[in-house]
Amino acid sequence: MSTTQPVGHTDPSATESERFAPPSQGVLVMKVIPMPADVNANGDIFGGWVMAQVDLAGSVLPARYVKGRMATVAVNEFIFKQPVRVGDILSFFASIRRVGRTSVTVGVEVYAERYVAQGQYVKVTEANLTYVAIDEQGRPRPIPRESLPQTD
Ligand SMILES: CC(C)(COP(=O)(O)OP(=O)(O)OC[C@H]1O[C@@H](n2cnc3c(N)ncnc32)[C@H](O)[C@@H]1OP(=O)(O)O)[C@@H](O)C(=O)NCCC(=O)NCCS
Repeated sequence: MSTTQPVGHTDPSATESERFAPPSQGVLVMKVIPMPADVNANGDIFGGWVMAQVDLAGSVLPARYVKGRMATVAVNEFIFKQPVRVGDILSFFASIRRVGRTSVTVGVEVYAERYVAQGQYVKVTEANLTYVAIDEQGRPRPIPRESLPQTD
């Protein structure tokens, strides 16, 4: 499986354009712009709002494996690296980490194009989440193996 480590973002010798480039790996699964209703007491975007968006974005690739009902069973890791602000354009890039018998684990990286610097991508959040395929009774069910998922 691919990783989502972006070329340039963590390399101290990277040029300015490389440091602000979008990630070279991972699938763009969602874009959203936070609004004033989403702020916390500091005036930045509320972390719970970001978590909800990551949960939605993280479900996109697993849905292609699960082909039906699923539930989020775990947020294995969630890191808020930089604050998110009103008017930022947020881009969510996802990569499949593991496909198990009934679950799919996905990595999500969130990049902000700041309101005043659009076109420059700053990593604000990264997370790993696990989704479980469930049946009509809410019990885990095996992921269908007969068809390969679309990954883009
Ligand atoms: C999701 C749920 C059906 C799983 O039931 P369960 O009895 O815990 O299931 P299992 O122990 O058989 O585990 C099912 C899969 O989840 C994985 N899993 C369970 N707990 C996990 C954890 N903490 N982290 C990562 N994966 C986990 C298991 O490894 C297994 O994957 P695999 O079959 O691919 O190896 C149940 O926990 C549930 O209903 N949780 C509430 C879900 C919910 O409300 N989510 C929020 C809204 S969507």
